[in-house]
Amino acid sequence: MMTPLPLPLGRLDHYTLIVPDAAACSRFHMEVLGFGWVREQKVNAGSAPEGEYDMLNHVLHLPGDPSRTMVVTEGLTEDSIFRKYLDAHGPGIHHVAYAVDDLAEAYRKLEEAEIPLTSKRIAHDPMTGLRQAFISRDKTGYFIELIERTEEAEEGVFKSGNMAELAKSMKSYIGEGEKAEPSVAATAAPTAVVGKLPCAIDEAKSFLSEPGNLPLWTAHQTVMKDSGGGWIERRMNGDVPLEVKVAANRVSFGWEFTEKPFEVHFDLDETPEGVRVTVPIPQGVDEARAVRTANAIKSELVLLSDALGASVEPKRLEEARQEMGRFHLEVYSRKGA
Ligand SMILES: [Fe+2]
Repeated sequence: MMTPLPLPLGRLDHYTLIVPDAAACSRFHMEVLGFGWVREQKVNAGSAPEGEYDMLNHVLHLPGDPSRTMVVTEGLTEDSIFRKYLDAHGPGIHHVAYAVDDLAEAYRKLEEAEIPLTSKRIAHDPMTGLRQAFISRDKTGYFIELIERTEEAEEGVFKSGNMAELAKSMKSYIGEGEKAEPSVAATAAPTAVVGKLPCAIDEAKSFLSEPGNLPLWTAHQTVMKDSGGGWIERRMNGDVPLEVKVAANRVSFGWEFTEKPFEVHFDLDETPEGVRVTVPIPQGVDEARAVRTANAIKSELVLLSDALGASVEPKRLEEARQEMGRFHLEVYSRKGA
């Protein structure tokens, strides 16, 4: 007689396959089974050199249910933990994730009931607040993930840290558990920042698309009109032309550097609780820069939601303003993007 799970398991959040060819597998799910495309994501889960990737994910949503996702994972290199896992266990379901309300409480109960977990601690992504723990695959042949999502880490949004944590939890299942663990989480750059705005999508779009508003909510505090009526950002090393483009659900900011133009996108989705905004972190920059950018964007989203009428805790607002002041100096003194 086994001990019953001492907590109510929440709804199925997502599941992940490990396969030799993510593109072929996701194509079958979309063309034959009616799954929907969400995004492709490349991650360095710890084995690739800086600026390169060892993991490819195709994120799909279940037929008719955009809030639940299936992740199709392919290891991109021989050294990738996902390729090694595939070699050891064959293709198929790697883990199924269920939502829980309070992961700390769930984790304590699982430990009390002596249910084997893959890690002695809860994984915590400081950027999103996302928390996760994995039940070992010894009894079932696949991992069971318990996940606590916050407002900023919604269904279907996966961060590099999330993936890296998964990679770490797998090591003991391919005979690498005894080796010193590389700091995988530390080498994973954030891929996106997600926030909520307390207004209608049109209001968010019109505020975002006005370059004159940028100094109110971003580190770009020296954006102004030039003598010809175009927008520029005044910087220490000269003025940089700035262009704002508005598409259906996307507002993009482009800085026109001659050698390498630079763009940042704000993707907007209408949800019952307001507008969800997703800002992909530009990839191909070093990890420290990606982390700084992600933190700055997070503060920008705090100021943006305040400007659009959300009631933001005064302490959080003050921290975001200070962060913007610091980041402004970095942006102002940059020579390029
Ligand atoms: Fe997962």
